[in-house]
Amino acid sequence: MLYRKWGSKEDKVVTYTSSSREDVRILDKVKEVMKAHVIELFLSGNLSKEDARKLLQGINSFTKVDPSYEDVHEALEDHLIKTAGEAGGSIGLGRSRNDHVAAALRLEIREELMDLLEQLLDFRKMILKRAEENVNTPFVVYTHFQPAQPTTFGHYLLYVEEEVASRWSSIFRTLDLVNRSPLGSGAIVGTSVKLNRDRESNLLGFREVLVNTISATSSRADLISAVMEVVNLMLALSRVVEDMILLSSKFVGILELPDTHVSTSSLMPQKRNAVTMEVLRARVSRVLGYLTSIASTYKSLPSGYNLDLQEINPLFWEIIDETRTGIEVLHDLLSKVKVNEFKIDKEVLSTDEAEILAEKGMRYRDAYFAVAKAVREGKFSPTITPEQSIYRKAVKGSPSPERVRESISLARERLNGDENLLREYKNWTLKGEGELRLMENDILQEGN
Ligand code: ARG
Repeated sequence: MLYRKWGSKEDKVVTYTSSSREDVRILDKVKEVMKAHVIELFLSGNLSKEDARKLLQGINSFTKVDPSYEDVHEALEDHLIKTAGEAGGSIGLGRSRNDHVAAALRLEIREELMDLLEQLLDFRKMILKRAEENVNTPFVVYTHFQPAQPTTFGHYLLYVEEEVASRWSSIFRTLDLVNRSPLGSGAIVGTSVKLNRDRESNLLGFREVLVNTISATSSRADLISAVMEVVNLMLALSRVVEDMILLSSKFVGILELPDTHVSTSSLMPQKRNAVTMEVLRARVSRVLGYLTSIASTYKSLPSGYNLDLQEINPLFWEIIDETRTGIEVLHDLLSKVKVNEFKIDKEVLSTDEAEILAEKGMRYRDAYFAVAKAVREGKFSPTITPEQSIYRKAVKGSPSPERVRESISLARERLNGDENLLREYKNWTLKGEGELRLMENDILQEGN
């Protein structure tokens, strides 16, 4: 314990508020932020190069957070006091845990969002490849979970891709919000120490400074925007998950799931249960629960830092981790799932039949009732095959193989654009981190 001189670390009440265990996740980022602070103290003339060197060495030798500390920040400062001699006493100058944790969280979430976006690009590539292989594979789609109209599996897969591509864009947009520097904003009103916040921001590869010191230290709204979009992605994918369960069940039976995704019953030997999808379906609910938890902790907190904010941090990681593994599992399934041969119920051709009558000059509503009557009386006999029905679909985005190929090439173009955007973003952040590394090496070398 460094900041408090009362209580003991054996006391459960004292350790109740510790975030040390959860902070392991941001340990590296906390060290980066502290390095930027040390470098800025030096550059602004508030710390000698010699002291800066000892402090940087001390930060590099900090590897573990003892759970008896309040948090990683206290543990690091205590470590510096113990290892950097007198210089350790200067590290508290012009900084607070409030601006430091906000900066570390933003760095960590920035990195994790970029990793997630990369994973989603792979997912989209796989889907497009499978769509191409299944341009002619007959499939039936449902509305109200009643068989609606014939399509192809390729067309269905493009629905999945488009959902992910749209969520990709909205997650990517939140990166710009997250990627702003709160560093130098102190506990709530900044500091009288003349730190250059723009320079600190550049050292960490942030896009710009998050200006107001009150929001810089205590807002989590940008981070919440990011995870809301992540959860929105999971909501969209949970519908695909549900499709996998229903369409592979014996009642429908048009999909065959890979063996590794099904398990049997200990009693009923015939069962092939869609277990990975069932677990994923439940995990999406869990993720939504984490988001609800974040929102209700955040709601109505008075402005400025409150320790409630600390309790939100691990929920961010829960959402991101569940999402990453969930996508991995769904990726595997969709890369292997097969469409069974199945008999298409002729009634799904009713709409086509009515459209054909309309083409021949009948008012659509009259054609519709004529077909409906035939179906009701069991006399419906379509004049076209399901395959012809698919070929007849004319509008952009529909299942005729020509349109599907067009959709695939549009999706590819978008995917390439997104790949470039992400690459540029990564290069930009790496450049900033490089500046920190150069300064660090420069200061460290002096002492040798
Ligand atoms: N452990 C805290 C967190 O994760 C760090 C900030 C604590 N600030 C404070 N004034 N107690 O949010």
